[in-house]
Amino acid sequence: MLKRLPIIISACCLTSLALAATPQEMLAEFSKASGQKTQPDKGQVFFNTTHGKEWSCSSCHTKQPTLEGQHASTRKVISALAPAANPKRFTDAAKTDKWFRRNCNDVLGRECSAAEKADVLAWLITLKP
Ligand code: HEC
Repeated sequence: MLKRLPIIISACCLTSLALAATPQEMLAEFSKASGQKTQPDKGQVFFNTTHGKEWSCSSCHTKQPTLEGQHASTRKVISALAPAANPKRFTDAAKTDKWFRRNCNDVLGRECSAAEKADVLAWLITLKP
């Protein structure tokens, strides 16, 4: 048991994102990791345009993510993505990580960069319901 402890600790703390529990903390982490100035306007454009595949982020989350979205293929309702409209958003780093990975893959065919995540989240944080 004792032998395993260091492994568990290093697995837990490899990414500091694992500790972020508010949208602002997550934004600070993505922004720091990107090493660039965060640009909410760029995040909006990124969110609303396609990147060589069929869907954009807005295909499921709408261009107004303070509102409910709808999955582009299953038609399931997706609750609002903007934190001001949905206080549960960007409060669980594991969930945020998982969906960024999955959705970016669907839209771009790769993971989003830290800069792309920072820009999108910065834009989402500016939205008011
Ligand atoms: C095919 C539909 C679809 C597309 C396209 C899509 N998403 Fe999502 N997204 C979902 C679903 C489904 C969930 C999980 C259900 C939920 O959280 O309500 C989700 C959840 C998320 C979350 C989790 C937020 C949190 O912490 O609760 C983030 C971040 C996210 N999406 C970002 C994006 C971004 C950025 C793009 C564009 C690169 C994108 N999504 C494109 C369907 C989609």
